[in-house]
Amino acid sequence: MFINADMPIKAARAELEAAYDLEPSAAAMKDTADIYERVRHIIPEPDWMLHAPYVRAINRLKKEKDAVILAHNYMTPEIFHGVADVSGDSLQLAIEATKVDQQTIVQCGVHFMAETSKILNPEKTVLIPDARAGCSLASSITAADVEALRRQHPGAKVVSYVNTTAEVKAASDICCTSANAVQVVDAQPGDTVIMTPDGYLAQNVARLSRKRVVWWDGACIVHERFTAEEIRAFREDNPGVAVIAHPECRPEVVAEADFTGSTSGMIAWVRRHKPAKVVMVTECSMSDNVAAELPEVEFVRPCNICPHMKRITLENILWSLHSGTEEVAVPEHLIEPARRAVERMIALTA
Ligand code: 13P
Ligand code: SF4
Repeated sequence: MFINADMPIKAARAELEAAYDLEPSAAAMKDTADIYERVRHIIPEPDWMLHAPYVRAINRLKKEKDAVILAHNYMTPEIFHGVADVSGDSLQLAIEATKVDQQTIVQCGVHFMAETSKILNPEKTVLIPDARAGCSLASSITAADVEALRRQHPGAKVVSYVNTTAEVKAASDICCTSANAVQVVDAQPGDTVIMTPDGYLAQNVARLSRKRVVWWDGACIVHERFTAEEIRAFREDNPGVAVIAHPECRPEVVAEADFTGSTSGMIAWVRRHKPAKVVMVTECSMSDNVAAELPEVEFVRPCNICPHMKRITLENILWSLHSGTEEVAVPEHLIEPARRAVERMIALTA
């Protein structure tokens, strides 16, 4: 067992316990009382007692170390509400990464997100609390695969989802996220556009786009598990329930939904409509994070966990800040072409 790839867990824990007061205590509860107020209806007090010393230590340490914590919407509530300075979907995190003043970015999310932050901030230190936090989409394709697709579809532009490695971004013409995929695809010249690596996202985009879309057959292990039958069963069991889905879901699942959007788009929809009952067809922690803010909305919770996102914990965030690990490096020759693909997307969205 490791706290991150470099450090055996027992040794790291001993070092953290010697450096910070990590025992549950009334003092830690008092110091984090304002944060607990925001999550009390989703995190029981005994659980918060265990989180509080870590939340306090992380919030103090990030100031001392001139660090900012960027957290994806799939982080657990004690991270999302407890220590994040900026939270959002992949696009928001990529944009925010270009605006931060701090010298160190701690990316609470998966590895491709940390790479994106590094690509946009090569002079800054970017840390990820566990570099093994991967993504089934990012690992499904290589730069050589992108080149093979270009040979099969000469002249077609390659639009790659941000859920890709730096080398795949560098081999692509432009990136997209779930928030802007149709806009990016429609903005490409030519009749045909190649989308990588998410086959379902590409098919969902193809339904809305003016272009002919061809795609790579990658899939998200969290979203591909949802089925149309499951969605129909939610509706049958919960009359009047609002169903909102992420576009990484299968097209037949998206067809059953009342709304489809990026993780932040889904959150905004629930904030705006405040349905009596809603099912968010996406990763587990999203419902927890929004429920903390909207106690009047009842969440039906199919719980599909992203095992990669769940590698990030309060303990390894503290370790990351304390030890300066694991630092994310992107090979020099990839930074410029990968940044171009991300910046083209940001410019188009702006
Ligand atoms: P968003 O960009 O919508 O947050 O999606 C990222 C992701 O990994 C969803 O599975
Ligand atoms: Fe990748 Fe899916 Fe996990 Fe998002 S939820 S990081 S797409 S495996």
